[in-house]
Amino acid sequence: MIKIAILISGRGSNMVSLVNAVERKNLDCQVACVIANKKSAGLALAKENNIPTKLINQFDYENKFDHELALILELESHNPDWILLAGYMAILSSNFVEKFAGKIINIHPSLLPKFKGLNTHSRVLKAGNKTHGTTVHVVTNELDDGPIIAQSEIRILANDTVETLEYRILQEEHILYPLILESLVKEYLEIKLDKVTWHSVPPFLDSEIKNRNISIKPYLFIKNHN
Ligand code: GAR
Repeated sequence: MIKIAILISGRGSNMVSLVNAVERKNLDCQVACVIANKKSAGLALAKENNIPTKLINQFDYENKFDHELALILELESHNPDWILLAGYMAILSSNFVEKFAGKIINIHPSLLPKFKGLNTHSRVLKAGNKTHGTTVHVVTNELDDGPIIAQSEIRILANDTVETLEYRILQEEHILYPLILESLVKEYLEIKLDKVTWHSVPPFLDSEIKNRNISIKPYLFIKNHN
């Protein structure tokens, strides 16, 4: 059975969507722990689902090295196959990334490589872009970089605001991230260090994503232009 750890920093809605997918789809996967780096509403939600939780508060540590050391020790005690960042708002050091090389996956609210970093929704609006989206990618030493696994794209509407975009992008994320987890668990998707390989199109994509155009070359790209 695949074991995953999920790292969060806040509300945890992506974490809940992953947990629900494991349950609902009866995936051969165990959410071994949910860890937060600050007080997070998501921890209570994880507890409600009987998942071991841990707050490793970054403000309790003198420096990043000590905080990450505590995080590494906690993660190692669960021995996860994958570490899924779900709104984890801290930049991981190269020491941490190398420790779990090729095992850390992130979801970022933009069509990377566009709009790395924070405040992606306001920046995309300011730039006058016609489309926006979310990206699931392998974490490397560079911020919001690393091989892309999948993207989901939406069309920006004339009356979109930061709030509506945040809402619409979250909806995409709640579909996309669980699909990536399912693809990994069912071995349609393989990640070896920084090499992402889609072996074939997972059949569950058809039923899960209606009215979207999907292409998995060179990576999974979902257009939701409705
Ligand atoms: C999500 O939109 C996620 O993509 C973003 O934070 C939000 C967390 O929401 N992550 C980043 O910006 C990471 N760079 P959630 O706590 O409700 O899952």
